[in-house]
Amino acid sequence: MAVNPTAQPPLGMLAELTHRCPLHCPYCSNPVELTAREAELSTQDWLSVLSQARELGVLQVHMSGGEPLARPDLPELVEHASRLGCYVNLVTSGLGLTASRLDDLVERGLAHVQLSVQGATAERANLLAGARAHDHKLAAAELIRKADLPLTVNVVLHRRNHDQLPGMIALAERMGADRLELANTQYYGWALRNREALMPTRAQLDVAEPIVREATERLRGSMEIVYVVADYYEPYPKPCMYGWGARQLTVAPDGTVLPCPAATAITTLELDNVREKPLKEIWYESSSFNAYRGEDWMSEPCRTCDRRSVDFGGCRCQAFLLTGDAAATDPVCSRSPNRDVVDVILAAPPPATAPDLVMRTVTTR
Ligand code: SF4
Ligand code: FES
Repeated sequence: MAVNPTAQPPLGMLAELTHRCPLHCPYCSNPVELTAREAELSTQDWLSVLSQARELGVLQVHMSGGEPLARPDLPELVEHASRLGCYVNLVTSGLGLTASRLDDLVERGLAHVQLSVQGATAERANLLAGARAHDHKLAAAELIRKADLPLTVNVVLHRRNHDQLPGMIALAERMGADRLELANTQYYGWALRNREALMPTRAQLDVAEPIVREATERLRGSMEIVYVVADYYEPYPKPCMYGWGARQLTVAPDGTVLPCPAATAITTLELDNVREKPLKEIWYESSSFNAYRGEDWMSEPCRTCDRRSVDFGGCRCQAFLLTGDAAATDPVCSRSPNRDVVDVILAAPPPATAPDLVMRTVTTR
């Protein structure tokens, strides 16, 4: 396949080192079928992937999962990426982080930690994580602060924790976070099966917005707050991935290379694997990365829309999951001929009590 002339080198790589995880979050966006430990890339494979990524232009490596601390070779991978000149970020639940492990990671070049938080109180947070995790997270935050590492606290917001929003902001402050990401749930992977139970109500979102605005103002200069809206309620979609194949790639635990972390959802995509092809070839030449790169793939209304360079037609995974066509306009868009799909979901009267959550369990392939 010819190289798409709009292709630029990637800036970041999400390295999903493993799907193994001690938590059972119902909003997990990893695929329903996870990679088994035996199918994970080896240490040597990951070292090669990191070198190839740097050669390709990658400057930021996000080591994620699952829980990346479940990989005993994490320190070696952090050191390698850091020596290559990459900014290395650890995306973690905090479980398994000890003072000695963190010291070692810092010594080897770890530059930043993103720590997930499920709720403001131990009771709620543990319920939502499906594990007694909250106290470990408080301890992990303390270690990160003592190590003087920049900390981002990640909160996934949904119907079952929106009421604790002020408490979660206060918790992030107490943890000494430099940045707080408050992201309403995105419905991919496991999260999609919990959509009805997780979807916040319009009233919850109306309450949240001024709280976030006030905290953003009050904490300006000490803690940055990023609020990711509940896109089903918005008139226009999010600029997902800042465009397909534009800035970032994901390498899944088994070596599958994905144009976005949720792309296994698009069953019509032919995905390549670093075990079989060089990363550079996959980034520039593969059918998966070129499928929705640039604007040529767009049909109406995106093709001639004045917002197409703002939101890139929205999210390909969402388009596929809601319409069966990954090249369709994201149905969240009010200009999409399929917006009714989203409106029907939102119009369904919220049950007096939200349906039970299906906690994340492990089904491997
Ligand atoms: Fe974005 Fe396409 Fe909607 Fe225009 S029609 S706002 S480009 S999703
Ligand atoms: Fe895959 Fe948006 S999540 S393109």
